[in-house]
Amino acid sequence: MTATPGPRPLVHVVGARPNFVKAAPVIRALAGAGVPQRVVHTGQHYDEALSGVFFAELDLPAPDLNLGVGSGSHARQTAALLVALEEAFEALRPALVVDYGDVNSTLAAALVAAKLNLPQAHVEAGLRSFDMSMPEEVNRRVADAFADLCFATSADAVDNLCREGVPAERIHLVGNSMIDSLEAVRPRLDPSGAQASVGLPDGPYGVVTLHRPGNVDEPGRTRALVEGLAASAAQVPLVFPVHPRGRAALEAAGLTGVSGLHLVEPLGYLPFLSLLAGAAVVITDSGGVQEETTILGVPCLTVRPNTERPVTITHGTNRLIEPGELAAAVGAVLAAGPAAPGQLPKRPPLWDGRAGERIAAVLVEWLRDRTVASAP
Ligand code: UD1
Ligand code: UDP
Repeated sequence: MTATPGPRPLVHVVGARPNFVKAAPVIRALAGAGVPQRVVHTGQHYDEALSGVFFAELDLPAPDLNLGVGSGSHARQTAALLVALEEAFEALRPALVVDYGDVNSTLAAALVAAKLNLPQAHVEAGLRSFDMSMPEEVNRRVADAFADLCFATSADAVDNLCREGVPAERIHLVGNSMIDSLEAVRPRLDPSGAQASVGLPDGPYGVVTLHRPGNVDEPGRTRALVEGLAASAAQVPLVFPVHPRGRAALEAAGLTGVSGLHLVEPLGYLPFLSLLAGAAVVITDSGGVQEETTILGVPCLTVRPNTERPVTITHGTNRLIEPGELAAAVGAVLAAGPAAPGQLPKRPPLWDGRAGERIAAVLVEWLRDRTVASAP
Protein backbone atom coordinates (compact mmCIF):
# COMPACT_ATOMS: atom_id res chain seq x y z
CA MET A 1 0.00 0.00 0.00
CA THR A 2 1.29 3.46 -0.81
CA ALA A 3 0.82 6.50 1.43
CA THR A 4 -2.39 8.47 0.86
CA PRO A 5 -1.85 12.16 -0.02
CA GLY A 6 -3.89 14.97 1.58
CA PRO A 7 -4.77 15.86 5.17
CA ARG A 8 -4.10 13.17 7.73
CA PRO A 9 -7.41 11.52 8.66
CA LEU A 10 -8.72 10.23 11.92
CA VAL A 11 -8.72 6.42 11.54
CA HIS A 12 -11.28 4.20 13.29
CA VAL A 13 -10.31 0.55 13.77
CA VAL A 14 -13.21 -1.88 14.08
CA GLY A 15 -13.28 -5.64 13.70
CA ALA A 16 -15.92 -7.44 15.73
CA ARG A 17 -19.69 -7.17 16.25
CA PRO A 18 -19.71 -4.94 19.34
CA ASN A 19 -17.16 -2.56 17.77
CA PHE A 20 -19.56 -1.63 14.99
CA VAL A 21 -22.31 -0.75 17.48
CA LYS A 22 -19.95 1.44 19.54
CA ALA A 23 -18.26 3.16 16.58
CA ALA A 24 -21.32 4.12 14.51
CA PRO A 25 -22.41 7.11 16.66
CA VAL A 26 -18.84 8.45 16.87
CA ILE A 27 -18.34 8.21 13.11
CA ARG A 28 -21.69 9.89 12.50
CA ALA A 29 -20.92 12.78 14.87
CA LEU A 30 -17.47 13.33 13.37
CA ALA A 31 -18.91 13.30 9.85
CA GLY A 32 -21.34 16.01 11.00
CA ALA A 33 -18.35 18.05 12.21
CA GLY A 34 -16.60 17.64 8.84
CA VAL A 35 -13.60 15.75 10.23
CA PRO A 36 -11.69 13.73 7.60
CA GLN A 37 -11.94 10.11 8.70
CA ARG A 38 -11.39 6.55 7.46
CA VAL A 39 -12.80 3.28 8.72
CA VAL A 40 -10.51 0.23 8.82
CA HIS A 41 -12.31 -3.10 9.30
CA THR A 42 -9.79 -5.69 10.40
CA GLY A 43 -11.95 -8.61 9.24
CA GLN A 44 -11.83 -10.28 12.67
CA HIS A 45 -15.55 -10.94 12.19
CA TYR A 46 -16.48 -11.66 8.59
CA ASP A 47 -19.80 -13.55 8.53
CA GLU A 48 -22.62 -11.40 7.20
CA ALA A 49 -24.53 -12.00 10.46
CA LEU A 50 -21.62 -10.78 12.61
CA SER A 51 -20.42 -7.95 10.39
CA GLY A 52 -22.14 -6.87 7.14
CA VAL A 53 -25.60 -6.68 8.65
CA PHE A 54 -24.42 -4.09 11.20
CA PHE A 55 -23.06 -1.73 8.56
CA ALA A 56 -26.46 -1.72 6.88
CA GLU A 57 -28.55 -1.45 10.04
CA LEU A 58 -26.38 1.15 11.78
CA ASP A 59 -26.03 3.24 8.65
CA LEU A 60 -22.26 2.92 8.81
CA PRO A 61 -20.20 3.89 5.77
CA ALA A 62 -18.60 0.90 4.06
CA PRO A 63 -15.08 0.41 5.43
CA ASP A 64 -12.35 2.18 3.48
CA LEU A 65 -10.17 -0.87 4.04
CA ASN A 66 -10.99 -4.44 5.00
CA LEU A 67 -7.86 -6.22 6.15
CA GLY A 68 -9.45 -9.68 6.04
CA VAL A 69 -7.44 -11.09 8.95
CA GLY A 70 -10.08 -13.71 9.83
CA SER A 71 -9.94 -16.23 12.65
CA GLY A 72 -7.11 -18.06 14.40
CA SER A 73 -5.56 -18.72 17.78
CA HIS A 74 -4.87 -15.59 19.82
CA ALA A 75 -1.25 -15.50 18.66
CA ARG A 76 -2.04 -16.13 15.00
CA GLN A 77 -4.94 -13.70 14.85
CA THR A 78 -3.03 -11.00 16.75
CA ALA A 79 0.04 -11.47 14.58
CA ALA A 80 -2.04 -11.11 11.42
CA LEU A 81 -3.72 -8.02 12.88
CA LEU A 82 -0.37 -6.41 13.76
CA VAL A 83 1.10 -6.93 10.31
CA ALA A 84 -2.01 -5.76 8.46
CA LEU A 85 -2.63 -2.73 10.68
CA GLU A 86 0.98 -1.56 10.42
CA GLU A 87 0.67 -1.56 6.65
CA ALA A 88 -2.70 0.21 6.81
CA PHE A 89 -1.47 2.94 9.16
CA GLU A 90 1.62 3.52 7.05
CA ALA A 91 -0.63 4.07 4.05
CA LEU A 92 -3.32 6.13 5.78
CA ARG A 93 -0.98 8.26 7.96
CA PRO A 94 -3.59 8.76 10.72
CA ALA A 95 -3.69 12.01 12.67
CA LEU A 96 -5.23 9.86 15.40
CA VAL A 97 -6.20 6.19 15.71
CA VAL A 98 -9.50 5.44 17.49
CA ASP A 99 -10.13 1.94 18.81
CA TYR A 100 -13.15 0.50 20.58
CA GLY A 101 -13.90 -1.92 23.40
CA ASP A 102 -11.81 -4.95 24.24
CA VAL A 103 -11.43 -7.33 21.31
CA ASN A 104 -8.19 -8.55 19.73
CA SER A 105 -8.50 -5.88 17.01
CA THR A 106 -8.50 -3.24 19.77
CA LEU A 107 -5.28 -4.55 21.30
CA ALA A 108 -3.57 -4.79 17.93
CA ALA A 109 -4.56 -1.26 16.89
CA ALA A 110 -3.24 0.12 20.18
CA LEU A 111 0.05 -1.72 19.92
CA VAL A 112 0.71 -0.82 16.29
CA ALA A 113 -0.20 2.84 16.83
CA ALA A 114 2.16 2.95 19.83
CA LYS A 115 5.05 1.46 17.84
CA LEU A 116 4.44 3.93 15.01
CA ASN A 117 4.23 6.83 17.50
CA LEU A 118 0.70 7.64 16.42
CA PRO A 119 -1.64 9.32 18.89
CA GLN A 120 -4.58 7.15 19.87
CA ALA A 121 -7.94 7.19 21.60
CA HIS A 122 -9.73 4.31 23.32
CA VAL A 123 -13.52 4.33 23.44
CA GLU A 124 -14.84 2.39 26.46
CA ALA A 125 -11.67 2.90 28.49
CA GLY A 126 -11.20 1.91 32.12
CA LEU A 127 -13.55 -1.06 32.45
CA ARG A 128 -11.99 -3.78 34.60
CA SER A 129 -13.16 -7.27 35.51
CA PHE A 130 -9.88 -7.75 37.43
CA ASP A 131 -9.89 -11.23 35.90
CA MET A 132 -6.78 -11.72 33.79
CA SER A 133 -8.02 -15.09 32.54
CA MET A 134 -10.35 -13.13 30.22
CA PRO A 135 -8.76 -12.14 26.90
CA GLU A 136 -10.83 -8.96 26.98
CA GLU A 137 -9.17 -7.82 30.24
CA VAL A 138 -5.74 -8.11 28.62
CA ASN A 139 -6.93 -6.27 25.53
CA ARG A 140 -8.53 -3.35 27.36
CA ARG A 141 -5.55 -2.88 29.68
CA VAL A 142 -3.21 -2.64 26.68
CA ALA A 143 -5.50 -0.18 24.90
CA ASP A 144 -5.72 2.02 27.99
CA ALA A 145 -1.97 1.91 28.62
CA PHE A 146 -1.27 3.56 25.25
CA ALA A 147 -4.30 5.84 24.86
CA ASP A 148 -3.72 9.59 24.72
CA LEU A 149 -7.47 10.00 25.10
CA CYS A 150 -9.45 7.61 27.31
CA PHE A 151 -13.21 7.83 26.79
CA ALA A 152 -14.96 6.30 29.80
CA THR A 153 -18.57 5.13 29.99
CA SER A 154 -18.94 5.31 33.77
CA ALA A 155 -17.47 6.76 36.96
CA ASP A 156 -16.08 3.39 38.08
CA ALA A 157 -14.05 3.25 34.86
CA VAL A 158 -12.65 6.71 35.58
CA ASP A 159 -11.71 5.54 39.08
CA ASN A 160 -9.92 2.49 37.67
CA LEU A 161 -7.87 4.64 35.29
CA CYS A 162 -6.97 7.13 38.03
CA ARG A 163 -5.93 4.29 40.34
CA GLU A 164 -3.64 2.98 37.57
CA GLY A 165 -1.98 6.38 37.29
CA VAL A 166 -3.52 7.61 34.03
CA PRO A 167 -3.25 11.42 34.14
CA ALA A 168 -6.64 13.08 34.68
CA GLU A 169 -6.31 15.24 31.55
CA ARG A 170 -6.35 12.11 29.38
CA ILE A 171 -9.65 10.85 30.85
CA HIS A 172 -13.04 11.95 29.53
CA LEU A 173 -16.27 10.68 31.05
CA VAL A 174 -18.57 10.79 28.04
CA GLY A 175 -21.20 8.08 28.51
CA ASN A 176 -21.84 5.02 26.39
CA SER A 177 -21.91 5.17 22.61
CA MET A 178 -23.41 1.65 22.45
CA ILE A 179 -26.48 3.18 24.09
CA ASP A 180 -26.51 5.93 21.43
CA SER A 181 -26.97 3.18 18.83
CA LEU A 182 -29.78 1.63 20.87
CA GLU A 183 -31.57 4.95 21.30
CA ALA A 184 -31.23 5.68 17.57
CA VAL A 185 -33.11 2.53 16.58
CA ARG A 186 -35.47 2.32 19.56
CA PRO A 187 -38.51 3.76 17.75
CA ARG A 188 -38.10 1.03 15.11
CA LEU A 189 -37.98 -1.94 17.50
CA ASP A 190 -40.73 -4.50 16.97
CA PRO A 191 -40.71 -7.09 19.77
CA SER A 192 -43.81 -9.02 18.72
CA GLY A 193 -42.72 -9.14 15.06
CA ALA A 194 -39.27 -10.42 16.08
CA GLN A 195 -40.85 -12.92 18.50
CA ALA A 196 -42.98 -14.39 15.70
CA SER A 197 -40.14 -14.40 13.17
CA VAL A 198 -37.90 -16.61 15.35
CA GLY A 199 -40.78 -19.03 15.96
CA LEU A 200 -41.49 -18.17 19.59
CA PRO A 201 -45.11 -18.68 20.69
CA ASP A 202 -47.14 -15.71 21.98
CA GLY A 203 -46.62 -14.85 25.63
CA PRO A 204 -43.55 -14.27 27.79
CA TYR A 205 -40.17 -15.46 26.53
CA GLY A 206 -36.49 -15.18 27.39
CA VAL A 207 -33.38 -14.42 25.30
CA VAL A 208 -30.03 -16.21 25.70
CA THR A 209 -26.53 -15.31 24.43
CA LEU A 210 -23.41 -17.16 25.59
CA HIS A 211 -20.00 -17.09 23.93
CA ARG A 212 -17.30 -16.35 26.52
CA PRO A 213 -14.40 -18.83 26.74
CA GLY A 214 -15.08 -19.10 30.50
CA ASN A 215 -18.49 -20.60 29.72
CA VAL A 216 -18.00 -22.53 26.50
CA ASP A 217 -14.42 -23.82 26.77
CA GLU A 218 -14.79 -25.69 30.03
CA PRO A 219 -16.90 -28.84 29.49
CA GLY A 220 -18.12 -29.17 33.11
CA ARG A 221 -19.36 -25.58 33.21
CA THR A 222 -20.84 -25.82 29.72
CA ARG A 223 -22.81 -28.95 30.76
CA ALA A 224 -24.08 -27.20 33.89
CA LEU A 225 -25.10 -24.24 31.76
CA VAL A 226 -27.02 -26.40 29.28
CA GLU A 227 -28.78 -28.17 32.16
CA GLY A 228 -29.71 -24.75 33.57
CA LEU A 229 -31.00 -23.63 30.18
CA ALA A 230 -33.11 -26.79 29.81
CA ALA A 231 -34.64 -26.29 33.28
CA SER A 232 -35.27 -22.61 32.45
CA ALA A 233 -36.84 -23.45 29.08
CA ALA A 234 -39.29 -25.70 30.94
CA GLN A 235 -40.54 -22.52 32.66
CA VAL A 236 -40.53 -20.06 29.74
CA PRO A 237 -39.66 -20.45 26.04
CA LEU A 238 -36.15 -19.23 25.28
CA VAL A 239 -34.58 -18.04 22.03
CA PHE A 240 -30.82 -18.47 21.71
CA PRO A 241 -29.02 -16.88 18.74
CA VAL A 242 -25.90 -19.03 18.88
CA HIS A 243 -22.56 -17.25 18.32
CA PRO A 244 -20.26 -19.44 16.19
CA ARG A 245 -17.76 -19.55 19.04
CA GLY A 246 -18.99 -22.22 21.38
CA ARG A 247 -21.64 -23.73 19.14
CA ALA A 248 -19.84 -27.07 18.96
CA ALA A 249 -19.12 -27.17 22.70
CA LEU A 250 -22.70 -26.26 23.58
CA GLU A 251 -24.03 -28.89 21.19
CA ALA A 252 -21.68 -31.50 22.65
CA ALA A 253 -23.13 -30.59 26.06
CA GLY A 254 -26.66 -31.34 24.82
CA LEU A 255 -27.97 -28.00 23.56
CA THR A 256 -29.93 -29.36 20.60
CA GLY A 257 -33.41 -30.84 20.91
CA VAL A 258 -34.18 -29.21 24.28
CA SER A 259 -37.91 -28.57 24.56
CA GLY A 260 -38.74 -24.83 24.66
CA LEU A 261 -35.25 -23.76 23.59
CA HIS A 262 -35.26 -22.16 20.12
CA LEU A 263 -31.79 -22.16 18.59
CA VAL A 264 -31.26 -19.64 15.79
CA GLU A 265 -28.33 -18.16 13.90
CA PRO A 266 -26.85 -14.86 15.20
CA LEU A 267 -29.41 -12.13 14.57
CA GLY A 268 -29.11 -8.69 13.05
CA TYR A 269 -29.06 -5.72 15.40
CA LEU A 270 -32.70 -4.63 14.98
CA PRO A 271 -34.27 -8.10 15.38
CA PHE A 272 -31.98 -8.87 18.30
CA LEU A 273 -32.69 -5.62 20.15
CA SER A 274 -36.39 -6.06 19.39
CA LEU A 275 -36.28 -9.44 21.11
CA LEU A 276 -34.36 -7.99 24.06
CA ALA A 277 -36.86 -5.16 24.44
CA GLY A 278 -39.80 -7.57 24.71
CA ALA A 279 -38.11 -10.24 26.84
CA ALA A 280 -39.27 -11.29 30.31
CA VAL A 281 -35.72 -12.34 31.14
CA VAL A 282 -32.28 -12.32 29.49
CA ILE A 283 -29.52 -14.85 30.17
CA THR A 284 -26.11 -13.78 28.90
CA ASP A 285 -22.37 -13.47 29.28
CA SER A 286 -22.11 -10.59 26.79
CA GLY A 287 -20.73 -7.23 27.84
CA GLY A 288 -22.96 -5.19 25.56
CA VAL A 289 -26.13 -7.09 26.41
CA GLN A 290 -25.65 -6.29 30.12
CA GLU A 291 -25.68 -2.61 29.15
CA GLU A 292 -28.58 -2.78 26.72
CA THR A 293 -30.86 -4.62 29.19
CA THR A 294 -30.01 -1.95 31.77
CA ILE A 295 -31.43 0.71 29.48
CA LEU A 296 -34.36 -1.40 28.28
CA GLY A 297 -35.29 -2.23 31.90
CA VAL A 298 -35.26 -5.98 31.22
CA PRO A 299 -34.03 -8.35 33.97
CA CYS A 300 -30.57 -9.65 33.03
CA LEU A 301 -28.94 -12.75 34.51
CA THR A 302 -25.23 -12.69 33.69
CA VAL A 303 -23.65 -16.12 33.99
CA ARG A 304 -20.20 -14.98 35.06
CA PRO A 305 -18.26 -14.70 38.31
CA ASN A 306 -17.56 -11.00 37.68
CA THR A 307 -18.41 -8.07 35.46
CA GLU A 308 -16.30 -5.18 34.18
CA ARG A 309 -19.60 -3.25 34.05
CA PRO A 310 -20.64 -2.89 37.71
CA VAL A 311 -22.81 0.10 36.82
CA THR A 312 -25.26 -2.36 35.22
CA ILE A 313 -25.78 -3.81 38.70
CA THR A 314 -25.80 -0.57 40.70
CA HIS A 315 -27.87 1.40 38.15
CA GLY A 316 -29.45 -1.40 36.15
CA THR A 317 -31.21 -4.71 36.02
CA ASN A 318 -28.16 -6.96 35.98
CA ARG A 319 -27.32 -9.77 38.38
CA LEU A 320 -24.36 -12.18 38.38
CA ILE A 321 -25.19 -15.86 38.76
CA GLU A 322 -23.53 -19.27 38.52
CA PRO A 323 -24.83 -21.93 36.08
CA GLY A 324 -26.30 -23.96 38.97
CA GLU A 325 -28.43 -20.96 40.03
CA LEU A 326 -29.88 -20.34 36.58
CA ALA A 327 -33.22 -22.15 36.73
CA ALA A 328 -34.10 -20.77 40.19
CA ALA A 329 -33.09 -17.26 39.14
CA VAL A 330 -35.30 -17.45 36.03
CA GLY A 331 -38.17 -18.74 38.19
CA ALA A 332 -37.73 -15.80 40.59
CA VAL A 333 -37.72 -13.24 37.74
CA LEU A 334 -40.88 -14.75 36.25
CA ALA A 335 -42.61 -14.84 39.64
CA ALA A 336 -41.77 -11.18 40.28
CA GLY A 337 -43.24 -10.14 36.91
CA PRO A 338 -42.37 -7.00 34.98
CA ALA A 339 -41.27 -3.98 37.02
CA ALA A 340 -43.54 -0.93 36.91
CA PRO A 341 -41.78 1.95 35.12
CA GLY A 342 -41.43 3.87 38.42
CA GLN A 343 -39.67 0.90 40.05
CA LEU A 344 -36.90 0.70 37.46
CA PRO A 345 -33.47 1.96 38.51
CA LYS A 346 -32.26 5.30 37.14
CA ARG A 347 -30.12 4.87 34.04
CA PRO A 348 -26.36 5.37 34.49
CA PRO A 349 -25.31 9.02 34.20
CA LEU A 350 -24.66 10.14 30.59
CA TRP A 351 -26.16 6.98 29.05
CA ASP A 352 -28.49 9.31 27.22
CA GLY A 353 -27.84 8.67 23.53
CA ARG A 354 -25.36 11.54 23.13
CA ALA A 355 -21.99 9.97 23.96
CA GLY A 356 -20.91 9.99 20.29
CA GLU A 357 -21.42 13.76 20.16
CA ARG A 358 -19.37 14.25 23.34
CA ILE A 359 -16.56 12.08 22.00
CA ALA A 360 -16.58 13.97 18.70
CA ALA A 361 -16.44 17.31 20.52
CA VAL A 362 -13.34 16.23 22.47
CA LEU A 363 -11.71 14.87 19.30
CA VAL A 364 -12.43 18.00 17.29
CA GLU A 365 -10.86 20.16 19.99
CA TRP A 366 -7.88 17.82 20.29
CA LEU A 367 -7.31 17.89 16.51
CA ARG A 368 -7.64 21.69 16.44
CA ASP A 369 -5.11 22.11 19.27
CA ARG A 370 -2.61 19.93 17.46
CA THR A 371 -3.11 21.70 14.14
CA VAL A 372 -2.49 25.05 15.85
CA ALA A 373 0.54 23.68 17.71
CA SER A 374 2.11 22.28 14.51
CA ALA A 375 1.37 25.39 12.36
CA PRO A 376 4.55 27.13 11.11
C1 UD1 B 1 -14.68 -11.78 19.92
C2 UD1 B 1 -14.01 -11.07 21.10
C3 UD1 B 1 -14.95 -11.02 22.27
C4 UD1 B 1 -16.29 -10.41 21.87
C5 UD1 B 1 -16.85 -11.13 20.67
C6 UD1 B 1 -18.07 -10.40 20.18
C7 UD1 B 1 -11.59 -11.42 21.17
C8 UD1 B 1 -10.49 -12.18 21.81
N1 UD1 B 1 -12.83 -11.81 21.53
O1 UD1 B 1 -14.95 -13.10 20.34
O2 UD1 B 1 -14.39 -10.20 23.30
O3 UD1 B 1 -17.18 -10.52 22.96
O4 UD1 B 1 -15.89 -11.13 19.59
O5 UD1 B 1 -18.89 -11.20 19.42
O6 UD1 B 1 -11.35 -10.54 20.41
N2 UD1 B 1 -16.16 -17.05 13.71
C9 UD1 B 1 -17.04 -17.27 12.68
N3 UD1 B 1 -17.39 -16.21 11.90
C10 UD1 B 1 -16.92 -14.96 12.09
C11 UD1 B 1 -16.02 -14.75 13.14
C12 UD1 B 1 -15.66 -15.80 13.94
O7 UD1 B 1 -17.50 -18.38 12.47
O8 UD1 B 1 -17.31 -14.02 11.34
C13 UD1 B 1 -15.77 -18.20 14.57
C14 UD1 B 1 -14.44 -18.81 14.19
O9 UD1 B 1 -14.52 -20.18 14.40
C15 UD1 B 1 -13.52 -18.20 15.23
C16 UD1 B 1 -14.40 -18.07 16.45
O10 UD1 B 1 -15.68 -17.75 15.92
O11 UD1 B 1 -12.39 -19.01 15.48
C17 UD1 B 1 -13.95 -16.97 17.40
O12 UD1 B 1 -13.85 -15.72 16.73
P1 UD1 B 1 -12.95 -14.53 17.34
O13 UD1 B 1 -13.14 -13.29 16.58
O14 UD1 B 1 -11.56 -15.01 17.53
O15 UD1 B 1 -13.53 -14.36 18.80
P2 UD1 B 1 -15.05 -14.27 19.28
O16 UD1 B 1 -15.34 -15.46 20.12
O17 UD1 B 1 -15.93 -13.94 18.15
N1 UDP C 1 -26.16 -8.67 19.09
C1 UDP C 1 -26.82 -8.80 17.87
N2 UDP C 1 -27.26 -10.03 17.49
C2 UDP C 1 -27.10 -11.14 18.25
C3 UDP C 1 -26.42 -11.00 19.49
C4 UDP C 1 -25.95 -9.76 19.87
O1 UDP C 1 -27.02 -7.80 17.18
O2 UDP C 1 -27.53 -12.23 17.84
C5 UDP C 1 -25.64 -7.34 19.47
C6 UDP C 1 -26.04 -6.84 20.84
O3 UDP C 1 -27.28 -6.16 20.79
C7 UDP C 1 -24.90 -5.92 21.21
C8 UDP C 1 -23.70 -6.60 20.57
O4 UDP C 1 -24.21 -7.47 19.57
O5 UDP C 1 -25.08 -4.65 20.61
C9 UDP C 1 -22.96 -7.39 21.62
O6 UDP C 1 -22.01 -8.20 21.02
P1 UDP C 1 -21.40 -9.50 21.70
O7 UDP C 1 -22.30 -10.03 22.75
O8 UDP C 1 -21.03 -10.40 20.59
O9 UDP C 1 -20.05 -8.93 22.30
P2 UDP C 1 -19.66 -8.35 23.73
O10 UDP C 1 -20.52 -7.19 24.01
O11 UDP C 1 -19.82 -9.46 24.72
O12 UDP C 1 -18.22 -8.02 23.57
